[in-house]
Amino acid sequence: MALILTTGCFGIISFADGQDDEIRFAVCTDIHALEKGAVPAVNYPENELYFHARNSGNLYTEAIGIFVTFLTKMKEEKPDFIILPGDLANDGNQEEHEYFASILDLFEEESGIPVYVAPGNHDYYRSTREEFKNYYHNFGYDEAVNVDTETASYCVDLPGKFRLIAIDSCLVGEDGDGFDERLFGWVEARAKEAEESGRTVISFMHHPLLDPIPYAELLMKDFIVRDSKKVAEKFTQYGIQYVFTGHEHGNNISAYTGKNGRTVYDILTTALSSYPLEYRMVNLSKDAMDIKNETILECNFDYITEGFTPKQLELMRTDYTEYSKGYFKYSIERKIAKYLTPEFIAGALNQKSGPLYDTIQTVMKLVGEAVEMPLYNKDYDGTTVESIAAKSGVKLPESDYYNLMDLISSGVAAIYYGNANLGLETSPEGKLLLTALTTQLTYVLAEAGNRQTTQVINSVISAFGLEEIDELNVSLLNRLPLPGADNFYEIAYTIFEPLINKFLVDDDISDRDAVLPGPGETVDPPKKINTFFDKVLSFIKYVFKVAFTSLTVWFR
Ligand SMILES: [Fe+2]
Ligand SMILES: [Fe+2]
Repeated sequence: MALILTTGCFGIISFADGQDDEIRFAVCTDIHALEKGAVPAVNYPENELYFHARNSGNLYTEAIGIFVTFLTKMKEEKPDFIILPGDLANDGNQEEHEYFASILDLFEEESGIPVYVAPGNHDYYRSTREEFKNYYHNFGYDEAVNVDTETASYCVDLPGKFRLIAIDSCLVGEDGDGFDERLFGWVEARAKEAEESGRTVISFMHHPLLDPIPYAELLMKDFIVRDSKKVAEKFTQYGIQYVFTGHEHGNNISAYTGKNGRTVYDILTTALSSYPLEYRMVNLSKDAMDIKNETILECNFDYITEGFTPKQLELMRTDYTEYSKGYFKYSIERKIAKYLTPEFIAGALNQKSGPLYDTIQTVMKLVGEAVEMPLYNKDYDGTTVESIAAKSGVKLPESDYYNLMDLISSGVAAIYYGNANLGLETSPEGKLLLTALTTQLTYVLAEAGNRQTTQVINSVISAFGLEEIDELNVSLLNRLPLPGADNFYEIAYTIFEPLINKFLVDDDISDRDAVLPGPGETVDPPKKINTFFDKVLSFIKYVFKVAFTSLTVWFR
């Protein structure tokens, strides 16, 4: 039997014939559509391919072209429906929303495939909740069995035994997130109704429910939903087992088992318009939820605006994945470089002048040099990481990476791809990262000592009215008690192992293609979520351990 729904002015939308207890849908999030007509900005003129890189790694200028490619694929895939968990528009103004909604209108009219939206923080930058509900009335609100009065949350009864709950997780402030007690009550009531009528809840909201990588909440602010543990616990109480999210622009699947033994899965999908340019296809039956990642391999060039160079267009046409990865990596590298400036660190430490500022300047300049320094002698005649490591009798593992920045931005790209297993034992990059970081720590400490010593000597010399010296010609790098090969890895492990293994490893559930338990199925609780307090405590212990080890190593 074909199940029929009516939506807005486009009339009849039919779901494919199918089992009552099986449904297939697509998840596509964080499109960040700019109005047609946006041209590439020139932020980094020195880079001929990625001069328009933005901090977030998002291909804003091509966002609509990528989304249109996605919609074309959907016409072939013919899912039962599509969900879009927010950040549909980038600036969130009326023109962007109306333009985006017009593309969705045309798609629904041509394909008959229903689209359901939820708001993201960007959608509210220049629009209110009521305006959002109005722009997108065709995409959930008109056919909802219940629309929340205070937020843009709503709920739709899907064909078969399913209920879709779209949650507006942008509750606190303009760029905020979170739930209040009233919204918890609304979600609970909708989930209870579903349970009573034997429907499985599929929910989606913009902000991720769970940390994508261990310790993420210590590093990243405002990335997951506020009071996430409380929200996750509530969801298990309500019997909500599946939540699809976005906002963070990376692939991740995490699980939380509540006090009642029920589990909620957060299926976070990467931004459509950011490397690796993916969406998810999901099949939910009574036995399992089967999740597959699909990649966008081309941009619809009808939507590409002026401003791209022939060289860019050539790469975009021949290998769009490579182009998007290059753009993403360059964005990350510029962002890291920004954080490594003396001004940023001095500002963070509230030390914008005085003797400490001089030290910060010296150290941060060296850190900048250290991450840009070529890794291998084959790439460069001067000082390389390989040559410094050799002073300790340590061999730098071979690779194709050019420098630490390249290695780190590749690691970040791997995390966003959904392959956050850069552990020391689980990836070839692990040992290289460990060796290179430890080597460059040696370099920074030795050179900082050298340059600071020059500064101190100069201040004494100038006090006597004598002419200052340019720099000490004897590098401390050659005089410091460098760790020998025998204990190099022991020291390296102590200093960097927790950083690498705890921040970069997430191996509980596959973050890409995955098969999750079917509705109501219980499994052994996955990895227990540590409390924030546990994480802070272990981080403090880690800092003390590093400080102590550093003291005993460098000043023995
Ligand atoms: Fe986003
Ligand atoms: Fe967002």
